[in-house]
Amino acid sequence: MIDRGIILAGGNGTRLSPLTKVTNKQLLPLYDKPIIYYPLSILMLAGIKKILIITKPDETSIYKKLLGDGRRFGINLTYKEQNKPEGLPQAFLIGKNFIKKNGVALILGDNFFYGQGLALRLRQSLKKNRGSTIFLYPVKNPTQYGVVELDKTNKIKKISEKPKKTKSNLAITGLYLFNSKVVKLSEKLRPSKRNELEITDLIKSYKRKNSLIVEQIGRGGSWLDTGTAKDLFDASLFVSTIEKRQGLKIACLEEIAFRNKWIKKSSIIKSIKFYGNCDYSNYLKKLI
Ligand code: G1P
Repeated sequence: MIDRGIILAGGNGTRLSPLTKVTNKQLLPLYDKPIIYYPLSILMLAGIKKILIITKPDETSIYKKLLGDGRRFGINLTYKEQNKPEGLPQAFLIGKNFIKKNGVALILGDNFFYGQGLALRLRQSLKKNRGSTIFLYPVKNPTQYGVVELDKTNKIKKISEKPKKTKSNLAITGLYLFNSKVVKLSEKLRPSKRNELEITDLIKSYKRKNSLIVEQIGRGGSWLDTGTAKDLFDASLFVSTIEKRQGLKIACLEEIAFRNKWIKKSSIIKSIKFYGNCDYSNYLKKLI
């Protein structure tokens, strides 16, 4: 049973906005809340309470100001810095003492997932995982991602990182489960041509041991990009459309914690005070 997760909010510099020159992309808003709320909500919906956030150097203080030690959300947050972005598996080297002898979920700080049944499936996968579990999603532009080719019987034929050409449209999303061997296996990785440790190489080492599970998030689910200004705008529009229609918020951390019975009303009142007068606070007020 995996009970802990890492959010990698370090990563490469991005040309998303002039602001990302001086601050982390994950702190930009996706519609009505910081981007990092979305991956954090996914871990919380999966029942994970012990979370390590890996940030860019010098940014821990901003995250701490925003999220604190997680108490407001009934979770336990700790922080570490990634000095240089040298690939996703670095998260497991940085998080070695956090992982100890446990399995761990990794989610990228800028990844947006949404869909009925997603949380339940993730909870099941956390229980079921023995080696590694990855989640695939059909996309129009697979060559920008890690890609998995499956054969007719859904057996994995090939795993490749940003292939120039591929017959598959199944991208590897930024949500991964690994058993406790992940630290040792990451230590063995060598940098790729783009001079990074590649998560696909790590996944391949699980595949070689026959301990890789591939889950597909079907077309009814959503995995959206926030990589470019247009992507972020589209994702914001998506959230705004759903929230406006339902009157319910996506990725409201306090709501998830409250419904999970991890916090009481008093924590929500603290959050309302903390956020001050904004739409998010008004939503919290209605909740209690
Ligand atoms: C990384 C991974 C890639 C994965 C993607 C998901 O890509 O290397 O396999 O599909 O995240 O967002 P990068 O962010 O390095 O372009």
